[in-house]
Amino acid sequence: MAIDYQKEGKIALITINRPEALNAINIQTARELHDALVDFRADPELWVGIITGAGDRAFCAGADIRDMLPFLKENLPQRPWAMPDTPMRGLELWKPLIAAINGAALGGGLEIALACDLRIASEKARFGSPEVLLGLIPGWGATQRLPRVIPMCKAAELLLTGRPIDAQEAYRIGLVNTVVAPEAVLSTAKEWAEAICQAGPLAVRAAKEAMARGSNMTLEDGLKLENALEAYVMSTEDFTEGTSAFLEKRKPDFKAR
Ligand code: CAA
Repeated sequence: MAIDYQKEGKIALITINRPEALNAINIQTARELHDALVDFRADPELWVGIITGAGDRAFCAGADIRDMLPFLKENLPQRPWAMPDTPMRGLELWKPLIAAINGAALGGGLEIALACDLRIASEKARFGSPEVLLGLIPGWGATQRLPRVIPMCKAAELLLTGRPIDAQEAYRIGLVNTVVAPEAVLSTAKEWAEAICQAGPLAVRAAKEAMARGSNMTLEDGLKLENALEAYVMSTEDFTEGTSAFLEKRKPDFKAR
């Protein structure tokens, strides 16, 4: 399998498993990534997902240049739906995703990390958008998400030169949440996932949806969306449980209901 998919309590662990190709995404990998994420979205027992790469060299070196790029060239103009939906393009997913970036995150690999909500990086990780060096532009969202995450001039630096930056610089410009020793990347991602699992899962999903959809709206429309989601969250059992637990000085027992 090109994707290793494990369930550990409330956490889904999705590992891109092609270390011999630096975890580049070929068509099979894209299909399996889609399948894993659709299962994660549907499984009521799973609350947070972690995406990482196998081995210690790469998180993901991007689209597979031998197999994926010819497939995209053939299909994109007439049959864009031939590409399986992923959070980079098309797959709507409000459960939180954490990227555990254990090595190089280049091209489509950076775009997978950008489609996650939190990014935990190894101090050996590198980040870049080398597509222009191939005579190409990013196709899984970097031209749109990168300038929304980091300052425009740094996004332009990455997108126009194709040159990578190291983990410390990625942290300095706000591209990643934290930088840790290589051996601590996955355990740190799991700690952050466990921290999110302490919160009301429906509230977490509503917060993500409000941020993601609101970022494409005017402030006025975004505030209306926030109101609607707040009303929904207040109608859930989890809201009653969370507020009761606070007043009764006990730990809440959220059920995602
Ligand atoms: N596609 C296919 N194979 C890849 C790959 C990719 N994106 N990246 C690495 N590999 C393969 C190499 O071909 C090599 O395979 P062989 O041993 O069979 O020759 C193996 O992985 C190891 O790679 P290197 O020998 O090149 O390792 P290195 O340490 O010398 O270099 C690297 C590492 C700098 C990451 C280099 O592999 C590299 O530049 N990779 C390509 C990165 C890239 O351009 N990514 C963008 C792809 S396009 C894209 O992603 C478009 C999009 O938006 C969706």
